[in-house]
Amino acid sequence: MRIAASADFHFTPARFSALHDQLNHVRDEADVFVLAGDLTNYGLPEEMEPLLNVLVRLRLPVIVVLGNHDYESGREGELMRMMTQEGIKVLDGSAYERDGVGFAGTKGFVGERVIVLHYSPILATIDGEAPEIYPFMGTSRLAEVVDRHGADLVLHGHAHNGKCDGKTTGGVPVHNVAITLLQSQNPPAVYRVFEV
Ligand SMILES: [Fe+2]
Ligand SMILES: [Fe+2]
Repeated sequence: MRIAASADFHFTPARFSALHDQLNHVRDEADVFVLAGDLTNYGLPEEMEPLLNVLVRLRLPVIVVLGNHDYESGREGELMRMMTQEGIKVLDGSAYERDGVGFAGTKGFVGERVIVLHYSPILATIDGEAPEIYPFMGTSRLAEVVDRHGADLVLHGHAHNGKCDGKTTGGVPVHNVAITLLQSQNPPAVYRVFEV
């Protein structure tokens, strides 16, 4: 399975056309699209609505976890319902299987083969952020759980200025797919594709 992943869109209507164009090819390159949180900037339905327009037109299964920004207005329940109604799979401490690949995740939780988190489970992928905000970037307790249960791949966002790649102490690959990082790669991208 080819998994396209991104995070931290912080979507506002002003970003609509740019994102739409850049996401045009994701369907040719991947079988599912994973978004690791901070889909919106203020957690508002007005932000989710135009983002859903973009996501629905991808005609690709979409799997998401929410990020801290999606909780900002206390309307995350509404956002989850909007997404679910459009067929988007919201991982909220739950697991989901598609074509033999298990996805599990939440703002900070764990499950089967592909773990989708908003916060980082390791230090390597937040390197570049100011050390004083490290405690707000994630927790290694997530990595302990990943290593205990085993996984093939961990995807996260949130650390906009971190690094793309790392590993848990147990050797599970961890990738920060914050869109800011992906866009600063050469060539710049709005998502990254992984094979499992
Ligand atoms: Fe973010
Ligand atoms: Fe975040």
